[in-house]
Amino acid sequence: MNKLDTALVASSLQNAGFRLTDDVKEADAVLINTCSVREHAEERVFSHLGHLKHLKEHRPAMVVGVIGCMAQRLGDKLLEHEAVNIVCGPAQIPQIADLLCEAFARVQKRLAVTDNIRQGGQEGGALERFESAYSIEEMPGQAFVRVMRGCNYFCTYCIVPYVRGPEACRPPEAILEQVRKLADTGVKQVTLLGQTVNSYKYRSEEKTWCLADLLERTAGVQGIEWVRFVTSYPCDAFYDEILQAMAGSARICHYLHMPAQSGSDRILRAMNRHYTAEHYIELIERARAVVPDIAVAGDFIVGFPGETQEDFEATVSLVQRARYKNSYVFKYSPRPGTTSERRLADTVPADIKQQRNIDLLAVQDRISAELNQAFLNQQVTILVEGPSKKQVRRADCEMRSKSPPDSQSWPPTFPANVQLVGRTSTDHIVVFDGPLSLAGSFARVRVTQTSPLTLFGDLQP
Ligand code: 5AD
Ligand code: SF4
Repeated sequence: MNKLDTALVASSLQNAGFRLTDDVKEADAVLINTCSVREHAEERVFSHLGHLKHLKEHRPAMVVGVIGCMAQRLGDKLLEHEAVNIVCGPAQIPQIADLLCEAFARVQKRLAVTDNIRQGGQEGGALERFESAYSIEEMPGQAFVRVMRGCNYFCTYCIVPYVRGPEACRPPEAILEQVRKLADTGVKQVTLLGQTVNSYKYRSEEKTWCLADLLERTAGVQGIEWVRFVTSYPCDAFYDEILQAMAGSARICHYLHMPAQSGSDRILRAMNRHYTAEHYIELIERARAVVPDIAVAGDFIVGFPGETQEDFEATVSLVQRARYKNSYVFKYSPRPGTTSERRLADTVPADIKQQRNIDLLAVQDRISAELNQAFLNQQVTILVEGPSKKQVRRADCEMRSKSPPDSQSWPPTFPANVQLVGRTSTDHIVVFDGPLSLAGSFARVRVTQTSPLTLFGDLQP
């Protein structure tokens, strides 16, 4: 969601005549798009703002804006920070170019717009017009398309419903129009985005649309080869329809990101999650019965208030039963204003949270390693993303070691064959050597080596 918002803001600013720079030292304005989901993310923003404050001592005309969820959460209070000129919540990003112009013109040096987090409902409004005006390619040949904003679930630990507002589904015609535009520019893979994307529902005159309808129609757009969706809430909302759509079309990726958060029914209840561990496992079994090679990824929070060793062991047991491709594990972070922060003491000590985090990841790593071994000597089809992180780091170091630094040398140049990274339909990461020109296209790779997080292989002719 944040990546998409950043790209939308960047596009709208370019359209308004601004130019982007990678170098903060030459920037007239710096915008930080922020996340509030854990305290750590917010601490990093304050640390950036500290650096910007120093920069502004030499360049007082520079305008600094904080946008996104943290802007929404803290509002005017952020203007008290010496570095900050603009505060703009996620539902106000269509105003960002105007806010910047005002700040430059010094009509008003400090501006905050966060008052309205309602997002215009099914009819859309300013946010819908803003969203559909830009077609954003996230990586070569890949794009995100938001299908719904906000969330109605109110899990007790979560800040999202407070900062992103209530659920609002975009009209299917607007979504499909956007997909068609993206396909026309060469996009091959679209990821449909929503906080609880499987509950997408839109009543049009002809029928009520659910996510399965959207997936099928998106997969049918000329030029689109793969469609993904994130993130799913573990519930029955259109679940079987979605699985059937997956089974019925090779273009709908066999991947499900379905956070469980905990394996303890007691903790799930305290989190206001509307399922039990048993129900969750049953959902996964249903998925594997319909789509046998489906890869499932999970999210977990360890150290939720009151989580005992026994609760944690129930989580370990769920991870073992679910056999996830991978899991994202987070230490509970109390978010101001959420129900768990107001009503429950953060009882689990930091060192125990840390230990549970390490232990759960170790359990997951063993499962991921085992599952990945099954790919040895197999050929997989991947969509190539581009140079691997290692390759980018190497090129970056080479560039920085040149003296004097030459701004003309960005983007860095690569040798004929570089280390590339791509993903399978099941979201497995594949690293291999090949020409950079493959970025954005499909390739076949034979897997020669595996690790818990990565498959390594050789490009096939
Ligand atoms: N503390 C820790 N992790 C959290 N998440 C959401 N809120 C919190 C919190 N307060 C995690 C959940 C969610 C992911 C995006 O972030 O696991 O799925
Ligand atoms: Fe947060 Fe729960 Fe909504 Fe996910 S479903 S965004 S965890 S409130």
